[in-house]
Amino acid sequence: MGKDVIIACDFDSFDKVISFLDLFEKEDRKPFVKIGMELYYAEGARVVREIRARGHKIFLDLKLHDIPTTVQKAMSVLSRMDVDMCNLHAAGGSAMMEAAIKGLTREDGTRPILIAVTQLTSTSEERLHSELLIDRPMPEVVMHYAENAKNSGLDGVVCSPLEAGKVHDRCGKNFVTVTPGIRFDSATVGDQVRVTTPALAKELGSDYIVVGRPVTAADDPVAAYRRCVEEFID
Ligand code: C5P
Repeated sequence: MGKDVIIACDFDSFDKVISFLDLFEKEDRKPFVKIGMELYYAEGARVVREIRARGHKIFLDLKLHDIPTTVQKAMSVLSRMDVDMCNLHAAGGSAMMEAAIKGLTREDGTRPILIAVTQLTSTSEERLHSELLIDRPMPEVVMHYAENAKNSGLDGVVCSPLEAGKVHDRCGKNFVTVTPGIRFDSATVGDQVRVTTPALAKELGSDYIVVGRPVTAADDPVAAYRRCVEEFID
């Protein structure tokens, strides 16, 4: 599984994301791009097609969670969009995850990488117990969901770089860890809580880092992206 830096393109329009990606036109390395709900719901499949046509790899971050048949059919539609990675909520259960794999697998046997969200990082341990009525400690729940995803045939999980090593220990070194919460320094943490630098994420064994504002809001986004690549890959 190749290591890569994924830029979270959290923009609300086609024009904004394309102007941003225009900055990278002369780069040898085309950034791997994450398209989330905001951009996808604003612009639909055309934004995926356009970014693909420009030669970028795409992580379509739509976090599916529904009954198995619905997820299978939705994944089958996504499989035709030629994205490289997509995801779902492990909370949907193993039948849903197995159906997702079926839907995503193309006739020739190929499919995008499929990863699972275990517990959202916005869910606190307190709310896990009091609201979701899940009694076990958060780290145990996260690892259990990761194992469910692995046993259902998924390729990996979204997690903190701080959890990447433990996920690899439990689910194997080829089980992919896709890790947001990346910052160059602690002054720019924003709403992220547990953050690491690209260099530390590499040391901790992350397979892919997802970087949003440290690149998209930088004075020089191309330089910020290059810095991520240098620290995490080179
Ligand atoms: O701007 P920033 O680097 O914080 O962006 C991180 C990206 O990763 C955002 O698109 C965010 O939605 C996503 N993400 C996250 N934490 C998770 C899952 C996804 O920050 N647990």
